[in-house]
Formats: sequence, structure tokens, C-alpha cells
Amino acid sequence: PTGLLADTLGRPLRDLRISVTDRCNFRCSYCMPKDVFDKHHQFLPQDALLSFEEITRLARLFVAHGVVKLRLTGGEPLLRKNLEILIGMLAELRTPDGEPLDITLTTNGSLLARKAQALKDAGLRRVTVSLDALSDDIFQRMNDVGFPVAEVLTGIDAALAAGLGPIKVNMVVKRGTNDHEVVAMARHFRDHYDGQVVLRFIEYMDVGATNGWRMDDVLPSAELVKRIGEHWPLSPMQATATGETAERWRYDDGRGEVGFISSVTQAFCQDCNRARLSTEGKLFLCLFANQGHDLRALLRNGVSDTDLASAIGGVWHARQDRYSELRSQSAPTRNAGGQRVEMHYIGG
Ligand code: GTP
Ligand code: 5AD
Ligand code: SF4
Ligand code: SF4
Repeated sequence: PTGLLADTLGRPLRDLRISVTDRCNFRCSYCMPKDVFDKHHQFLPQDALLSFEEITRLARLFVAHGVVKLRLTGGEPLLRKNLEILIGMLAELRTPDGEPLDITLTTNGSLLARKAQALKDAGLRRVTVSLDALSDDIFQRMNDVGFPVAEVLTGIDAALAAGLGPIKVNMVVKRGTNDHEVVAMARHFRDHYDGQVVLRFIEYMDVGATNGWRMDDVLPSAELVKRIGEHWPLSPMQATATGETAERWRYDDGRGEVGFISSVTQAFCQDCNRARLSTEGKLFLCLFANQGHDLRALLRNGVSDTDLASAIGGVWHARQDRYSELRSQSAPTRNAGGQRVEMHYIGG
């Protein structure tokens, strides 16, 4: 029975993250630094991308193997034309128990105000919005294209109004760059959204090979818990799902919760149930993998569903990846990225 699929460490496959474009309208220095991703950078040609039909066919087979959650990522997923059509197709899939899937999207928020309602109508359940600062000066320096904070906040409001809440807001914390924004971000999202926005702090990670990561740039979550707790006392919450990335803490005064994603100082590979499908149809078993498994070649060679499903099952079954755990054992201080896959190509 396919529902029992597990990898070599006994981890099931529950979460499929689908990158729908390798393009982005931001140039965050930790993800797509401008000097590398300039006008000479070759993005994928249109015919390299999986079509909506190909994505949906693969998603259906992943669901047969136990996937219950789909996350659309990029690049910036809202740059993919007619994305709501894909969402509509994915919304029709059912788990072996007949349940609809949890379909979500990670976005930089820049196009959300325009698209929130159509996304919701197509069947999207929730969104996660990235926002690294409330100060325009700092945010614009980080996105490196001069994009204003106010438009991201408008996008968040539009998503809430469309019924896509509660919304998660992800802030990547880089020491010396935006760590002094942490308390202002916490205050803003505690005080103005009636518990409808959950802010999560992400430790800056050594993904990819272009961002020049150094351990000194990482601000450990434990330090952040302390900083925020000095303003508003916090208590740890029980995890709601196995394999969850964020450690959740509640404000003692009842004003909602915050999350901490600590992949550098506290690896969470042990329960990692996430697979990633790249824009061109490669299956990656880890955010830090060197290479993916080419499912597009199988799709375009006319392979049957049965053979495709067993190829996917075989790849997951052999999975050993636990990069963050291994990295914390050897404690590198610099990014030794090599040929590693880039975040804008594989998504969060
Ligand atoms: P929710 O169900 O909405 O909570 O999804 P999630 O917990 O998977 O969170 P999300 O997709 O928003 O991921 C948040 C961030 O955590 C990503 O942008 C990455 O920076 C990081 N992250 C997510 N998955 C992994 C993972 O498997 N490994 C590592 N090292 N980091 C991850
Ligand atoms: N470290 C941590 N998070 C990152 N993201 C992108 N690059 C990194 C990195 N090096 C986050 C983005 C966004 C999500 C897609 O991944 O900020 O929230
Ligand atoms: Fe920034 Fe996300 Fe775009 Fe990367 S994909 S440059 S993190 S907005
Ligand atoms: Fe999963 Fe790899 Fe992240 Fe560990 S480092 S949690 S195995 S994606």
C-alpha cells in the first residue's frame, strides 16, 4: 500500500512544495543577489517549465503516496501567468480518504492585493507572506528593488479580506541588517491584526551558493525569544503537526503567537516530510540537495502513471537527507555551497 511510504529514516512524505517559476521581481541579497542575478542571468525558457497539466498529474501521484499539503513557491509564484487556473486544478485532487488538500502559497506579497480574491476563489486556503522589516529604508535595502513596505501590508490586508487568513508572515533575520526590526515587527503584528497574522522569524540559512552566508550573520532563535520576551512575556506552545518547521510561542497576554524557524541552531530534519518539485520538474529531497531527480524526462517520455508513481516512491524510499543536522554537527562558519540548488529555484 502506497500510503505507508517512508524513507530510510522512517519519515513519511506529506508535504509537496511546487516551484512554479524561477523568476522574482525582488533581489533579496540572501536569495537572489543583484550582482549574480542581473540582466545577463538566463532564467528557464518557457518550454522548460512544467505545464499545469504536468504539475497536476505529478501532484496526484504524490497525493497517492501520502501528500496532504501542497505549497506553491517560486521565485515569486504570483509571476506565473494564470496561476489561479493551476490552483483550481489542484483543488480538485483528493487524498485516498477523500479529503481535499491543504493548498497554500509563499509570496513576497507584491502582487497579492491584485490577486488575493481570485486565488481564494480558485481554492487556495492560506498564504504565507515574506516581510523582513517595517522600516522602508531597511526593507528596500533588503529587497534591493526599492519595493515599499506599505504595498506588502496592503497585500496582507487584501488576503485577510479575501478569507485567506490566518496569514503567516516570514521574516528572515540577519544580524546587523534587520535584527533591530524584530521588536517593531512583533509589535505591529501583535497589535493590529486580532490574532489573524502569525509572525515567524527565520534563521538566515546557508542555502545555495551565492549569498555569501556566514555564521556571524545568524541570530539564534533563543536570543530572539529572549529579546521579545523582555517586551511581552512568552510561553512555549505544543507543536500541532509533526514535522512542523516553526517552534510556536504564545504571548501571555493573549495577543496571539509567534514562531521561530531555527534550522541553523536547532535542526528539524528528524521529522522532515517535505519534498520539493522544481519549476522544470526535478524532484529534490532536501533544501540543500546538490541535484534533483528528473521527473520531467519521465513525463515527456510517455511513462504510465504506474511507472511514474513507482519512480517517485523509489526515490523517496531511498531518501537519507538530513543536511541541517549534519551541518550542525560539523558547524561550518561559511557557506560551502558548491553546486547546491538555489532558493529562488526551489522555493522555501
Ligand atoms: P506552514 O504549514 O504554513 O507552517 O508551512 P511551513 O511550516 O512549511 O512554513 P513555510 O513553508 O512558510 O516555511 C518557512 C520557512 O522555513 C521557509 O521559507 C524556509 O526558510 C524554512 N524551511 C521550510 N522548510 C524547510 C526545510 O525543510 N528545511 C529547512 N532547513 N528549512 C525549511
Ligand atoms: N535563509 C532563510 N530563509 C530564506 N528565504 C530565502 N532565502 C533564505 C535564506 N538564505 C526565505 C524567504 C521566504 C521564503 C521563500 O524563504 O525569506 O520567506
Ligand atoms: Fe526575495 Fe523570495 Fe524573491 Fe528570493 S524568491 S528574491 S526571498 S522575494
Ligand atoms: Fe528537511 Fe533537508 Fe531541511 Fe533537514 S535540511 S529539514 S532534511 S529539507
